[in-house]
Amino acid sequence: MRKGIDEDHLTYVEAGLTAQDAGVAAVALHARTAEQRYSGQADWDAIATLKQALDVPVLGNGDIWEGSDALRMVEHTGVDGVVVGRGCLGRPWLFADLEAAFTQGGDYRPVLPALGEVAKIMSRHAQLLVEALEDERHGCADFRKHVAWYLKGFPVGGDLRRSLAMISSLAELDDLLDKLDPAIPFPLESLGQPRGRINAPGKVSLPHGWLDSRDDDTVPEGAETDESGG
Ligand SMILES: Cc1cc2nc3c(=O)[nH]c(=O)nc-3n(C[C@H](O)[C@H](O)[C@H](O)COP(=O)(O)O)c2cc1C
Repeated sequence: MRKGIDEDHLTYVEAGLTAQDAGVAAVALHARTAEQRYSGQADWDAIATLKQALDVPVLGNGDIWEGSDALRMVEHTGVDGVVVGRGCLGRPWLFADLEAAFTQGGDYRPVLPALGEVAKIMSRHAQLLVEALEDERHGCADFRKHVAWYLKGFPVGGDLRRSLAMISSLAELDDLLDKLDPAIPFPLESLGQPRGRINAPGKVSLPHGWLDSRDDDTVPEGAETDESGG
């Protein structure tokens, strides 16, 4: 869940308690309001507040880009675990980095693949997408959006980037990946940088009459067609 609709409607503690009473195994909080969308910084103090309020495990979420951020969040909030969203876009090795951080502690060795290893991971990712979608063109088209995330910060020319972002077959992808210099080290300056959505706050659309009465538990019309906003 998020913290609530906006700063005037913070519902996360009450929602957490309600979920706990209903018997959930754990809750996770993305510490922004819906109105904030992905703007500003996640409010890790709110995660600490929720952790204090509940007995079930609490997982913290928001702005974890590296294993070191996860350690800082645990230290700051006392949470039982962390959840990552945008941090793993183009960086599936973030989970290995998190594991290294949690097992080795503060002076852990971050996982920093060179470009050759990143290229191998890209190829494997595209192959798995094609298998999952059971269609090579569709899988390759879906993979295009991942290219910029994978290559963020690496010195790769514009023409090659553009070609990679227009692939329609796995063979084409592998041919292009072969042109990358495998020895280029991981760009340290891209560590800790946000990736994926970073947008401005926005008005939250609520069902008609939603805020009129807290005691009215009528399910709003069309609620089942709701889209997840994360
Ligand atoms: C590609 C992507 C898909 C997501 N899908 C969902 C979703 O289906 N449901 C949900 O509650 N949150 C979803 N989220 C939100 C994340 O779970 C997370 O709360 C949010 O991205 C903030 O964490 P972060 O700072 O680690 O990105 C998604 C995020 C991303 C980047």
